[in-house]
Amino acid sequence: MGNIDMTAEERLQWWHEARFGMFIHWGLYAILAGEWKGQKTRGIGEWIMHDLKIPIAEYEQLAAQFNPVKFDAEEWAELALQAGMKYLVITAKHHDGFCLFDSPSNPYNIVQQSPFKRDPMKELAEACNKRGIKMCFYYSQAQDWHADGGAGHWEDETEEKGWLVYQRSPEEFQRYLDTVVKPNIKELLTNYGPIGLLWFDTPVGITKGQSEDLRDFVHSLQPACLVSGRVGHDVGDYGSLGDNEHPEGKVEGAWETPATLNDTWGFKTDDHNWKSLDCLIELLVNCASKGVNYLLNVGPTAEGVIPQPSVDLLKQLGAWLDRNGEAIYGTSASPFINDPVWGRVTTKGDMLYLLVKQWPDDDLKLYGLKNKVVSSRILGREDASVRIQQDGDTITLSLPTSAPEETISVIGVKIEGKPEAEDLVIQQGAASITLPVALGELRGEITHHGGRGIAGWIDTTPSVSWKVRIKTRGVYDVVAITRGNNINEGWFGNHMIRVEVGNASVSGVAGMQDYDCSGASIQNIASKRGCINVDAVGETTIRIVAEKIDPAAQRGLALRGIELIARV
Ligand code: GLC
Repeated sequence: MGNIDMTAEERLQWWHEARFGMFIHWGLYAILAGEWKGQKTRGIGEWIMHDLKIPIAEYEQLAAQFNPVKFDAEEWAELALQAGMKYLVITAKHHDGFCLFDSPSNPYNIVQQSPFKRDPMKELAEACNKRGIKMCFYYSQAQDWHADGGAGHWEDETEEKGWLVYQRSPEEFQRYLDTVVKPNIKELLTNYGPIGLLWFDTPVGITKGQSEDLRDFVHSLQPACLVSGRVGHDVGDYGSLGDNEHPEGKVEGAWETPATLNDTWGFKTDDHNWKSLDCLIELLVNCASKGVNYLLNVGPTAEGVIPQPSVDLLKQLGAWLDRNGEAIYGTSASPFINDPVWGRVTTKGDMLYLLVKQWPDDDLKLYGLKNKVVSSRILGREDASVRIQQDGDTITLSLPTSAPEETISVIGVKIEGKPEAEDLVIQQGAASITLPVALGELRGEITHHGGRGIAGWIDTTPSVSWKVRIKTRGVYDVVAITRGNNINEGWFGNHMIRVEVGNASVSGVAGMQDYDCSGASIQNIASKRGCINVDAVGETTIRIVAEKIDPAAQRGLALRGIELIARV
């Protein structure tokens, strides 16, 4: 189980290899499935108690109805295996406070309160172990809408500047950590065999000391058990990107994206917004190309059944991985600064994997690799010949006319040495150029910058610049991509920005005037702000500065990036 002094890197070894895991959100909320007393929730399924303001005394009665007679741990673990998932994280306790395991310390649990009486966590741990899948638990350490002292119950919250603030005294919360959380964690890490990781979530008001204490507590019980970043204050073994957040640029360190198959985590009868198989493969591949793990969710029904569309999608994803998993498992991030237009790249040892979404009619170009290319092959079509030419910063691959896969096909390229790429954005031939903030160099102070493309830019001192190799002269439309939120329009405002490409520049307002409030609650706003004549090829700096920040916008300028769109 590892010794107590293990480093995060040692703990993370299997996890980096794994790349892909199953998330399961399951609990009393599955009974309501998005509707309570005729009222439908617009939010995610597992938040129904909070969002519809269901009193504790009413919600807890659901426990007496929870009887998942169709639950079959073997079936769930087998599905994870078939999907190519290497670890499984299930909600042992979500924000509603109900324990899905036999907890001697906490009577609000499935064994004591439900007619089912079994401990599904035990059954799942066994089924996972049998298949070499790492068993892991989600545990809501701060929000607990049921237990005394837990945070986040709707009666305890007030809103300040658009943020929810929970009115709990520090003493009450500490008592809750000591009497509910720690005994539970001890049970989870003692009674279920080796646990791969504890997925803490929504740290809300937890202090740094409390987060560290929880992390150390986990490691003292099982030294090899990873602690997720959402334990709070960045003290976990790895980081958690936002829900369904798909990185655009380099991601330093160990990160994971938790993601949904439809729009909810916990089961909702009315959510049929399933992602397509193509989309899921793309998201998995994009994560892998950034060295990020993909933790994909299923939300079983109250009877214990994983919805059929989820089962079908996961099996198909697994079939793709059977053929192409070599380019995903055990790989690291792409060495290139920007993603190619045709797809994504991963690496392993002296191999580069080109994950091609747009199979070319003629040749495939790859720019900026420093290594010498040795040979290449197409996964699933080993006998096909691929001709390679390497000339300056450009590699040209001549491929057969048809792709082996309908979605993303993989070309394995053997190179000399460890992959290394030029440290700049290279335009792909005559194509448009996309410059996410995550790929740029940020100067000056910005309030929210996770290296993930969104910046809280509150005065005119910062700038973001990109080093770019231009391949094609011409006139380009300049577009600023900012972020809007239709729940609180005052957050983002209208700002004067200037984009400079070498010596040419263009200015204009970016933000809310381009914003269509009728859409999703968070949107990317594309503000087209004039055009620029790029008159020379070669290396140049592209920079964006703010000429004026709208003081009415509480969050300043939220910039995702800029695009230079080639005029045809
Ligand atoms: C969020 C939600 C939660 C869900 C989780 C998954 O933080 O509060 O309901 O479990 O994200 O990533």
